[in-house]
Amino acid sequence: MKNSESEDSTKALADKYIFPTYKRSVALMRGEGCRVWDDQGREYLDFVGGIAVCALGHSSPVVTKALEEQSRRLVHVSNLYYTRPQAELARLLVENSFADRVFFCNSGAEANEAAIKLARRYTREKAGPGRHTIICMEGSFHGRTMATLSATGQTKVQVGYDPLLEGFKFVPFNNLEALKRAVDDSVCAVMLEPIQGEGGVVIPDPEYLKGVKELCVEKKLLLIADEIQTGMGRTGRLFAHEHFGVKPDIMTLAKALGNGLPIGAMLGTEELSSVFGPGSHASTFGGTPLVTAVSKAVLTSLLEDGWIDHCRTTGEYFKERLTGLRKSHQSIKEVRGLGLIVGVELDRAAAPIVEACLERGFLVNAAQERVLRFVPPLIVGRVEIDRLIDALNEVLKRA
Ligand SMILES: Cc1ncc(COP(=O)(O)O)c(C=O)c1O
Repeated sequence: MKNSESEDSTKALADKYIFPTYKRSVALMRGEGCRVWDDQGREYLDFVGGIAVCALGHSSPVVTKALEEQSRRLVHVSNLYYTRPQAELARLLVENSFADRVFFCNSGAEANEAAIKLARRYTREKAGPGRHTIICMEGSFHGRTMATLSATGQTKVQVGYDPLLEGFKFVPFNNLEALKRAVDDSVCAVMLEPIQGEGGVVIPDPEYLKGVKELCVEKKLLLIADEIQTGMGRTGRLFAHEHFGVKPDIMTLAKALGNGLPIGAMLGTEELSSVFGPGSHASTFGGTPLVTAVSKAVLTSLLEDGWIDHCRTTGEYFKERLTGLRKSHQSIKEVRGLGLIVGVELDRAAAPIVEACLERGFLVNAAQERVLRFVPPLIVGRVEIDRLIDALNEVLKRA
């Protein structure tokens, strides 16, 4: 019996012992750069990258070196004590962003929880009670905890979990007039992804975010940018909001911040720090020496080794090739993206295309029913992109 079929195969064990919250495909054993191998030794080119996580690819020497060195020095202590890697990572993030302060946690949802708490507490202290509503966007995705689920503008992830938390309301993304109409005396903040990722790689009009920022300034609202998927160089700038010429008050990061080690961060301006004093918020594992040492090495490499420029030019090439493919495949309705977050909207379900790509040795995924989403490692090259385009050409021909 082949291992994949045996009762002891990875798939059999997982299917038997793990809550079936994910629809999984192959069992992956090993990775290097943009390639991964399954338990049958089959190679795949990875255009999912752990969903926008493994920016420097798999088994990155940058990550391995930092992990090895820091694991010999200090893995974890309580946040009751100072640690060097955490402080240095915070400095690096601040020096390269609009922000003055960082709070570390373990995931994207937790970073957004921190943002929601900070926005409410700050506004309560400055403006008194009653202003706690956060305006969020239809089609958004902010996480799976109760608060971030309640802030997410997609009912499919909320089914069965009511009552949802109060204090969130929704307007269509990329519609400034709708946002203006939604502002009332109960609102303290606007929360959005500069580009919606899970929503299907939705890019707003160039002037939209500026309009949102101006409204926030006028109405004294905080602007929270969820850059969990779009941050860390993914769009060809360190943070996506930089493309639109606006500065948020709060930004959340996770995913590629640790290249696969669990870390989240909430960044904000000095003005906000007075309400986040000792005891106001905390996390046991938030910003351990181990993960922050790795994260600092990852961010340093992104900034100093030219990966963000590489991402911008490779992303342009990728979009060009996909747009070329569109000429011979009417099933492609639209190609959109910025840097290496790229979406291909189809006139049909994306799942069979994902499946067919897998059979040909490519990991791709779908965001929304009809959108193929590509968020490969930022180190991906033209050769890999050409191979994917050839495979997609074949797959779409047969679809
Ligand atoms: C924009 C955005 N926000 C928040 C999250 C949640 O992050 P996590 O799964 O690390 O909690 C995600 C995850 O896909 C995301 O894309």
